[in-house]
Amino acid sequence: MFGRGLLPIVRPRPADGAGLVYAGGTEEDGMILTGTVRSPKTGDTYEIKNGYLNLLKNRVGADNVANLTNFLPGAGRAYEPLWRVHSLRLLTGEPFPTERELRIISDLVRPKRGGRYLDLGCSAGLYTRNLALAGGDFVGIDLSPSMLKEAARRARGIGARPSFARADAKNLPFADASFAGAVCGGSLNEFGDPSRVLRETRRVLQADARLAVMGILRARTGRGRRVQRFLSTGGIRFFDPDEIRSLLDHAGFEPDPLETYGPVFFAGATSRA
Ligand SMILES: C[S@@+](CC[C@H](N)C(=O)[O-])C[C@H]1O[C@@H](n2cnc3c(N)ncnc32)[C@H](O)[C@@H]1O
Repeated sequence: MFGRGLLPIVRPRPADGAGLVYAGGTEEDGMILTGTVRSPKTGDTYEIKNGYLNLLKNRVGADNVANLTNFLPGAGRAYEPLWRVHSLRLLTGEPFPTERELRIISDLVRPKRGGRYLDLGCSAGLYTRNLALAGGDFVGIDLSPSMLKEAARRARGIGARPSFARADAKNLPFADASFAGAVCGGSLNEFGDPSRVLRETRRVLQADARLAVMGILRARTGRGRRVQRFLSTGGIRFFDPDEIRSLLDHAGFEPDPLETYGPVFFAGATSRA
């Protein structure tokens, strides 16, 4: 599903000056459920099926082994029940229900009804659908078809109406200054080039927009460091608090003080003019 009203901001290629147009399919209340969209400038067409707009066509786009595991059949279905809903409790060692995490993210990004928001590396769409339900026009992007299909299924299941696109966060397929805010849950640790993703995020955000990032810090214990060294071989990276601040600053954001819960951080930031 993809909001028809968002097509003018979608630019899979720099030449796609005025965005994409609807070329036919099935629609319901302004959401394209299945169908085709087209770039009037390049003539390229893109499909909407399985719940998302595929802007990468047949390109895989993965940067590392960790990314590829998200492509496994069943990865989307298994992700939330087997890992995501328990992840913060397991990582922090304290009760950390999803509602608490969503409240922190929502307080940091402060979505407003009618505003447009981006979820970077949305996986099965935990932030996208829940924040969309609370108000705001949310777009979740991810590389993994399996995750995006599940994200659309879960959003429909709770009556939320976000849009989903298969896109690379390193080359965001959106016009400059298109969004009022962005969220990113755990994905900064997985992106092959986090500084480029943050610069791209700044480009598509308006000035004074809010960004909320949840992620994992570099471990302080020997055992934690050994586990993280192993995970790093698959392409996952872990950050020091100063590194997060510096990444945000260099990308054009004014970082808030970092909130930490053991190895988990929540970073809020405002885009500078
Ligand atoms: C840790 S998971 C994200 C979890 C999700 N945000 C949540 O809160 O449940 C990382 C996700 O980032 C996606 N990803 C990794 N590199 C990406 C890229 N360059 N562009 C878009 N998505 C990417 C992966 O496919 C994976 O689904």
